[in-house]
Amino acid sequence: MGAEEEKRLAAAHAVALVEAGMTVGLGTGSTAAHAIRALGKRVREGLAVRGVPTSEASAVLARTESIPLVDLNEAERVHLAIDGADEVDRRKRCITGGGGALLREKIVASAADRLVLVVDSGKTVETLGAFPLPVEVIPFAREQVRREMLALGASVQMRAGPEGAFVTDEGNHILDCRFGMIGDASGLAARLDAFPGIVEHGLFIDMADDVIVGRGDTACFME
Ligand code: A5P
Repeated sequence: MGAEEEKRLAAAHAVALVEAGMTVGLGTGSTAAHAIRALGKRVREGLAVRGVPTSEASAVLARTESIPLVDLNEAERVHLAIDGADEVDRRKRCITGGGGALLREKIVASAADRLVLVVDSGKTVETLGAFPLPVEVIPFAREQVRREMLALGASVQMRAGPEGAFVTDEGNHILDCRFGMIGDASGLAARLDAFPGIVEHGLFIDMADDVIVGRGDTACFME
């Protein structure tokens, strides 16, 4: 089985957790897209739920799938969020944001009663850090933050978009930062949280309640 099928299986496993009446956080990326399509199928079969999309792209897909959407500001509660990730360790910590939606993803994840990450088996790692850490910055502060990241020992690449810098749904830029293997992910997250100009970063620490891993022709919860 390829990674795409593993993503689909993990996503389907997570969507089976959705119950009638839930408000569901809809993640971003190719794995989350599998979940949105699977949820759309259930909605068309009669399941009454609402989705809170974490990106414009996921909102477009969800509308195509006939999933009723609600703005986070209007949602009193998010019962369950389903999202992908770029790397996950055994403590259910992850790097996310490869698709550039980390800010809204983290906000919806933190609002949710339960965050379920869905990944293919190639995303599980012993130590986070092979995948560059996306750091979302206010454009005004981009070079200042770049210098700070270099001082912390990272190599830094500004993410490019179709016309110059990649611009997030919230109008910010992304610096992809390679810190090497991140021995102290919690410590790094705390340091990044403290920098003025950094809006958010892709380290999710103590946020995921469950990780569902697609492996071969099956998917199961990470122990
Ligand atoms: C979107 O910003 C990301 O956080 C994605 O969830 C993450 O990059 C995983 O993407 P794939 O599911 O496409 O691998």
